[in-house]
Amino acid sequence: MRSCGSFGRRRATSLGSVKPDALSHLVNLAQSVPSIAEMFHASPNRAEAFTVDAVGIHADFSRQRISGDLWAALFESAKECGIETNIARMFAGDIMNVTEDRAALHTALRADASTSAEARWASRQLQKVRECAHAIRSNPNIHTVVNIGIGGSDLGPAMATRALRRFASGPEVRFVSNVDAADLDSVLTGLQPQNTVFIVSSKTFTTSETMHNAERARQWVRAAGGEWETHFYAATARPEIAREWGIREANIFEFRDWVGGRFSLSSVIGFPVMCAIGPDSFDAMLAGMQDMDAHVASAPLHRNLPVAHALVWFTNAVLHGYSTAAVVPYSHDLSRLPAYLQQLVMESNGKGVYVDGDAVATATSPVVWGEPGTNGQHAFFQMLHQGTQVVPVEFISSVEPLGSDHEAHDILIANMMAQSEALAIGDMNTNPHRQFLGNRPSSILMLDALSPRTFGALVAMYEHSTAIQGWLLNVNSFDQFGVELGKTMAVSTLNAFAVGGSGADETLTHPLMSWYLAHRKNISNE
Ligand code: F6P
Repeated sequence: MRSCGSFGRRRATSLGSVKPDALSHLVNLAQSVPSIAEMFHASPNRAEAFTVDAVGIHADFSRQRISGDLWAALFESAKECGIETNIARMFAGDIMNVTEDRAALHTALRADASTSAEARWASRQLQKVRECAHAIRSNPNIHTVVNIGIGGSDLGPAMATRALRRFASGPEVRFVSNVDAADLDSVLTGLQPQNTVFIVSSKTFTTSETMHNAERARQWVRAAGGEWETHFYAATARPEIAREWGIREANIFEFRDWVGGRFSLSSVIGFPVMCAIGPDSFDAMLAGMQDMDAHVASAPLHRNLPVAHALVWFTNAVLHGYSTAAVVPYSHDLSRLPAYLQQLVMESNGKGVYVDGDAVATATSPVVWGEPGTNGQHAFFQMLHQGTQVVPVEFISSVEPLGSDHEAHDILIANMMAQSEALAIGDMNTNPHRQFLGNRPSSILMLDALSPRTFGALVAMYEHSTAIQGWLLNVNSFDQFGVELGKTMAVSTLNAFAVGGSGADETLTHPLMSWYLAHRKNISNE
């Protein structure tokens, strides 16, 4: 892997992208792809040719609507548009987030401290977190850790804590994210202030939902007569705001603005995960991420898992025009993976302009959604098999069972494989109601085990695939201006509430606002 410094701090003025000619060639190839079943019959080694193995993940893309010619052309396009250079630039700390003039150095969070100043700094912060997590885990008076955060300050750690729950050995860790009081109320149910600590996780330390919940939690501790400061920690890129809010210096753990919120799991944002599974298991997760980093930076493109994965997602969204992508873990402990990927993929690549500001001419991010299997089979799979929209499916499971019931695991895996098969081959029953057209694309990612190390590799695989999809599309995957407008309007709407809706007459929601304020008044008068 290229060490930081060889490109460091250069501005990536061009991020590549698939050029129009190459794109129309790919679209033409995609339009003439035979059916999945025909491609299997024509090419006996298709399964092998479309399988990529890396870092404990066996990824089978053979039931995608991609022919051998298209597969080769996709890798050729990835090469031509400079994916390898972009990967190297990202690792080296070049300004990849050009609209915010920032590097995207999440890989430095888990790199050896000797590789760069950023890695050294990040590893010192993580060491502080390790010591603190150790103290929390060995304090018999602390029964529960509550993480207060939203978006990237919630989804990654909540997913990881759930995914690695079999390795949990510390206090119970709960997550509160929504500003709806119901969330904090239910998280605090049954807890005692004297036995609870809170981690306020927020890159900016200004996110209104998080700060509102943090204030309520502080009042809850204060009401019990406790010294609230000993119960509060902060994971943030704005330590000065955390300090001003009252968090003690020793309880503040930092990351820097070169880590995007949705790419921050391996930073101090992982603190609640470390409290749950312990520093050793957390380090194993980081090692898996590091393994995937080394792989993406060095494997040849056609054997490079994040590159192959990104090309499959690019093909489905851009070449075939499928507007959604279902992520269906056949691993109950990965139940938060779809929610995590919604932010990672959609906040990163749900963009309407290229890096240079011109309007995008193709689809960008698909709508990512999903639920664990087999539950999903009894809910939305009807539409996947017979609905009029084609939805590519990504199945994920592990060879090693999550529990002691091995028979249950075989049932689970058999179901997953059967679904992938049925989607691909269909069934031309003469009764139209019982007919399955088939030719519906899916991938299966098999982890060797849902261990901290392989889970870390999976997360890093998705991080890299998301960035690579952004480069193929020529959008900036690392900014998120699209969330700002609604946030600003929420502030003015709340201000209008305070003065009975006055001043908001020009807004399209004003009639509804008046209706709400009138009804809210009635409710509070009851
Ligand atoms: O609203 C979007 C967002 O800015 C995400 O990018 C981020 O992960 C989330 O809000 C939370 O932000 P913070 O960590 O600053 O509280």
